[in-house]
Amino acid sequence: MRVGTGHAHGKIILIGEHSVVHGQPAIAIPLRHLPVTVTLQETTNAQQFVSDVFTGTMAELPGLFDGIRVLVDRLLRRFNEPECPFTLTVVSKIPEERGMGSSAAVATAIVRAFYDFFDTQLDQQTLLATVNIEEMITHGTPSGIDAATVSADQPVWFVKGAPLTHFAMHTHAWLVVGDTGVTGQTGMAVNSVKELLTDPDQPGVGEHLINHLGALTKAAADALQHDQRKQLGLILNQAQSDLATLGVNHPVLQRLIDAANQTGALGAKLTGGGLGGCMFAVANDEQTAKQIATSLKQHGAVATWLEPLTAL
Ligand code: MEV
Repeated sequence: MRVGTGHAHGKIILIGEHSVVHGQPAIAIPLRHLPVTVTLQETTNAQQFVSDVFTGTMAELPGLFDGIRVLVDRLLRRFNEPECPFTLTVVSKIPEERGMGSSAAVATAIVRAFYDFFDTQLDQQTLLATVNIEEMITHGTPSGIDAATVSADQPVWFVKGAPLTHFAMHTHAWLVVGDTGVTGQTGMAVNSVKELLTDPDQPGVGEHLINHLGALTKAAADALQHDQRKQLGLILNQAQSDLATLGVNHPVLQRLIDAANQTGALGAKLTGGGLGGCMFAVANDEQTAKQIATSLKQHGAVATWLEPLTAL
């Protein structure tokens, strides 16, 4: 009986979410301690899906998993075995719908497991294009940054449609990530930004914000490469203000961002699609990062993570 395995991990967008959908650059980092493993095991009957969220046949997958159902179907047809019986097991440590790349990571690990199962080489371009099948269904018009980062080993500088560039961090700053516990709404957030861009009553407003976020992303890259932590914090705060004006903030995100800034953060912003999900703060050192994490929990964060940017 054939078997295949595939891996991927979570991600965090440092800066450039939403504006990246409209051609501006973004910086994202892989979170390798939030892994996803997919095992594809050949069986003798039925096509089974097993995960924490749902276990049953592929035909019974709930609507939330439409992207995965279509992706698996395409992969089976790509390898000319649409009826192949299997058990597809997903084990994920990434919180779902929190802007941490859960859907892209599961899709990436599935694609890798299928190519391993069918003993076929998989290049990066094919991987990203195939994951995009699922991401289009789950998120509407993805830029591709999630798929690129959940399959990367290093931070990425991402521009939609351009070859992926790895990004070297030269900073000793710490990241503190806070989970609001509120389900993020990436697809809805991306659509509302699109609506603002074409709103005849607010001509140029969306475009100005997108261009400004692009300029901030370039400035953040410079600050990260020269370890200008104070400057980085100011840039992140401005990005948060632009994202709020774009309409993708959430009161709980803002509460955690304010708490972080009052506890000595250099800056803080939402990450990913917004309308819920996660925020992060940048701290000068580990001790401040820990104090911020405590404050985030006191202000309602359901989980926090610490990430030394030095290690990336
Ligand atoms: C989602 O993690 C990031 C967004 O910019 C959407 C995308 O780039 O596909 C909001």
